Amino acid sequence: MAVEELLRYFTIADGVTSRLATEDVQIGGVDIKVGEGVIVSTLSADWDPVAFQDPAALDIERGARRHLSFGPHQCLGQSLVRMELRIVFDTLFRCIPALRLAAPAEDLPFKSDAVIYGLHELPVAW
Ligand code: HEM
Repeated sequence: MAVEELLRYFTIADGVTSRLATEDVQIGGVDIKVGEGVIVSTLSADWDPVAFQDPAALDIERGARRHLSFGPHQCLGQSLVRMELRIVFDTLFRCIPALRLAAPAEDLPFKSDAVIYGLHELPVAW
């Protein structure tokens, strides 16, 4: 459950889902003409209060399985990603139970300027 919520909360590949309309279509009251480009924000969808109650809260108990972190067309690597994340977190916290941040969380350098979201560095101590 924690893995799904982390995938929802950070939606790290927001913006990679660009689309080209193959026919005229209306979405949410907006007309999109054939041939027009659309950049789909999966982060907005994953932070939509209609879809997830109190979306700005990181809640590992919420059961966020229907997030769009892997895109509307579904990333082919998602099963591998889920397995890797479960194994990494299980192993890390079992082997290094005293693992903790070595800097204030609010000072962490997030990649707000990159296509794939993440951290430039994550100082830790144990
Ligand atoms: C946390 C890690 C990952 C995230 C958040 C992620 C996210 C995404 C997203 C948003 C898309 C676009 C889906 C769409 O067009 O609607 C995508 C496509 C894709 N991903 Fe990932 N991905 C991750 C890791 C991986 C890994 C590890 C692999 C391969 C081992 C992989 C292989 C692919 C492939 C092949 C596509 C293209 C699928 C297609 O166009 O049919 N991804 N991914």
